[in-house]
Amino acid sequence: MINLRQAIDEARQKNIAIGHFNVSDLAGLKAVVEGAKNLNVPVIVGVSEGERDFIGVRQIALLVKSFKDDYQIPVFLNADHTHSFEKIKEAVEAGFDAVLFDAGRKSLEENISETKKVVNFVKEYNLTNGTDIMVEGELGYIGSGSVLLDAIPQGVSVKKEDLTNPSDARKFIQETGIDLLAPAVGNIHGMLSNISDPVLDIDLIRHISALAGVPLVLHGASGNTTDDVKNAIAAGMSIVHINTELRVAWKRGLDLSLLSHPKEIVPYKILPEVVYEISKVVTDKLKIFNNL
Ligand code: G3H
Ligand code: ZN
Repeated sequence: MINLRQAIDEARQKNIAIGHFNVSDLAGLKAVVEGAKNLNVPVIVGVSEGERDFIGVRQIALLVKSFKDDYQIPVFLNADHTHSFEKIKEAVEAGFDAVLFDAGRKSLEENISETKKVVNFVKEYNLTNGTDIMVEGELGYIGSGSVLLDAIPQGVSVKKEDLTNPSDARKFIQETGIDLLAPAVGNIHGMLSNISDPVLDIDLIRHISALAGVPLVLHGASGNTTDDVKNAIAAGMSIVHINTELRVAWKRGLDLSLLSHPKEIVPYKILPEVVYEISKVVTDKLKIFNNL
């Protein structure tokens, strides 16, 4: 079966993107894998530090591997938004396919030096173990929580001058040796409750993509319009992250299930509605990302 690097290369050649979906539990994981299986497309399961603290680092790695073996589709695992070297090491040793070292809030120089240390470690690990784990770096601050927002969070700016500068991106990539870049292009983590998220800067994505030489990752895509996401993919985004919309679906599924069966106490009878609600979102997104 193809590895993540090959799946990304294929996506780039076809001008489509791989869906990256965060999960917090088995219901979410089943929904993501079943959605990808139904459409027969590769998918990335993402777990942030908080999500993997809940599921377990080795446990999620084994679960994803067993789904991949049984479903016979490329399912990859990413250690999303990891803030320390120790947690990167833990994910690498547990068998993740990719790690995102997130020092996006730090100065460019600090970000370069810390990210470089991670890249060197992972490259060495790959050489010794015959693996091909990819490292993603982040440049720019797009907020931290996959939650519903009343307003753009403090410190997150979607003003042109605060977005990722293409020449900084080039320097960051060249000096760190990262495999993937997550830039700030008007995207925000979380989603505004009542209106669409701010528009993405498609020209900036095109510009960064032309200079970067590595695939780009669009974070915070919950709440962005379909057209905006499609244009971002056409401009060079090869992976698209969704979390908040899945969390909303998780809660909706649970609410609906409890409301329609108030006396039910059997988890495996309550939770299929959660899986169903999440998988509807996953399927819709995968169709958009894969141009289906
Ligand atoms: O890494 C996770 C994603 O960037 C999720 O962002 O919650 O806005 O979809 P989102
Ligand atoms: Zn993210």
